[in-house]
Amino acid sequence: MSDQNRRILVTSALPYANGPIHIGHLVEYIQTDIWVRFQKLCGHHCYYVCADDAHGTPIMLRAEQDGVTPEQLIEQVWREHQADFADFLVEFDNYYSTHSPENRHYAELIYHRLDAAGHISRRVITQAFDPEKQMFLPDRFIKGECPRCGALDQYGDSCENCGATYSPTDLKNPRSVISGATPVTKESLHFFFKLADFEAMLQDWIISGPIQPQMANKLNEWFTAGLQEWDISRDAPYWGFEIPDAPGKYFYVWLDAPIGYMASFQNYCDRTGLHFDDFWAPDSTAEVYHFIGKDIAYFHILFWPAELTGAGFRKPTAVHCHGFLTVDGQKMSKSRGTFIKARTYLHHLRPEYLRYYFATKLNDGIDDLDLNFEDFLHRVNSDLVGKLVNIASRCAGFITRRFSGQLADSLAEPALYAEFATASESIAHAYEGREFGRAMREIMALADRANQYIDERKPWILAKQPDAHDEVQAVCSLGLNLFRVLIIYLKPVLPGLAAQVEQFLQIPPLRWNNLEKPLLDHKIGEFKPLMQRVDMAQITAMIDESKENYSPAREVPASSPGPLADDPVSPLITIEDFAKIDLRVARIIKAEAVAGADKLVRLELDLGGEIRQVFAGIKLAYAPEELQGRLTVMAANLTPRKMRFGVSEGMVLAAGGSSGIYLLNPDNGAEPGMRVK
Ligand code: 2FM
Ligand code: ZN
Repeated sequence: MSDQNRRILVTSALPYANGPIHIGHLVEYIQTDIWVRFQKLCGHHCYYVCADDAHGTPIMLRAEQDGVTPEQLIEQVWREHQADFADFLVEFDNYYSTHSPENRHYAELIYHRLDAAGHISRRVITQAFDPEKQMFLPDRFIKGECPRCGALDQYGDSCENCGATYSPTDLKNPRSVISGATPVTKESLHFFFKLADFEAMLQDWIISGPIQPQMANKLNEWFTAGLQEWDISRDAPYWGFEIPDAPGKYFYVWLDAPIGYMASFQNYCDRTGLHFDDFWAPDSTAEVYHFIGKDIAYFHILFWPAELTGAGFRKPTAVHCHGFLTVDGQKMSKSRGTFIKARTYLHHLRPEYLRYYFATKLNDGIDDLDLNFEDFLHRVNSDLVGKLVNIASRCAGFITRRFSGQLADSLAEPALYAEFATASESIAHAYEGREFGRAMREIMALADRANQYIDERKPWILAKQPDAHDEVQAVCSLGLNLFRVLIIYLKPVLPGLAAQVEQFLQIPPLRWNNLEKPLLDHKIGEFKPLMQRVDMAQITAMIDESKENYSPAREVPASSPGPLADDPVSPLITIEDFAKIDLRVARIIKAEAVAGADKLVRLELDLGGEIRQVFAGIKLAYAPEELQGRLTVMAANLTPRKMRFGVSEGMVLAAGGSSGIYLLNPDNGAEPGMRVK
């Protein structure tokens, strides 16, 4: 099959239907979505399905607690999950539920086939039972004192204090988390999947390279420890599918959860006419990928391929594991406000900031990744706003104002464009291999190159030279073409921004191979600001809202004079006093950090021909590279001031307060040297 015709089915782990999506979950959905969008952008037939994982004891108990039926609970959560994913631009082809007729069908089919082939055994086991609630208790629903160190309030499977693992019957003074009753032991018939029947098959499978080396090592440890039979049944009362011909016995949630991948895809096939067997038959040439967290590898690289093989289906092409998210170097925490729900994040910040930040951190490994908020702010402001969007904002105005939006009909420097287009192979390779961090670094190096080109050709100076009219068009058209290539490369990560750019450039949705042909002799639309800088105050507000016991701040009456009321009162001045200040629009043509000064940036400002040097105390708020090319306002007739680092020939204007420093920008259309009145 040619590479062009790849048929690819992709899944992310199914989130439980008893809680909201948080930023820890989002690592995986964003990672998968970027990969899927990349495949689609390249023209492959790629389908991304997922579902809510809707069964199990915690969901049953949560519904009871909320006074609703499990059906009502999972319906409500299903809606919330879909809204969260959609707003984070995670675009599934199908988002379903494991509590569905299709899932019941495949769970029963797989069970029957495994049973018929002798892979299911049955035997009586003894378990903890809550005599009050009249139900068997999962390990996590029993608490007591650790048998090793005596720590109080430990779960039935392991001690958080000393790390001991044990069985619930070993706990001292055990009690049911549900009723508080002391558990008793009780016998019951259980059904087991004979995993060891598949050891040889699994050993062979690993050799074909479907899992990362770290996971293959883990798998070998499990082989060495010996593959145990897996208990796939639970007793009533249980929320799930009853096992056929076994009244009162239910499939354990982890039996039907991965089968939910198939069920969601079947539901998609029924809607679209695609053929299920083309993807799941043992001889299928389609590709199937599961993206998961490393904590659920056991289920996906042992049980799942074994179940599939035993039931006559194909195995996954690969299972891609990722690490966990830490925030500012620590586990997410409700008390610190770093356990951030997807919806809370959306109250404060644009989803693409997080998509981009995660992309810069993701690779094909299983190490944990850290969300550091200062780094996050800097990455977004410096890369996306300062480098990327800046290219368009530096070029667009000239094309719209001076050339009625018409791009030049040839490339000013074909070699530079070719350099950008040639990078596609390496960037595509990085995307395909889930090396998103590398892809982002390569793309940002190109963005630097584009800005450097604009710095060298200085369209703002050319624009003042009557004989350089065509050159301005040529330089800015190339700048916009380089920008367009970068947007193609970033489209899997920033689909919303790409859509804004498609509208601005007045072009159909970009595809990967569009970079082969530049956009020439073409009329573009009006440029509107594409992305705002992140402000630390937004992050702080998000963290505050995520803290336990958060209650929204008191509302300030509309007539409140606001924070300025606390500022010292400025003396009144006359209009003549004000007119003494020569305020001018200036373009920052160069910005660099000043060695030995924490807060200073050295700026070279173009005042419409005249170049000034100014030292500005804005380094904590802006990375120098994001300042380059921007317009601002400066006080141009201040007496020059000799500083330790050189002479400062004016002052740039910025607003400042407890939330940060904000450089003043004139509206689009202003030109360097214009008087500010
Ligand atoms: O760990 C979890 O959140 C599970 N709900 C993941 C299930 S993935 C698949 F197997 F369904
Ligand atoms: Zn202990």
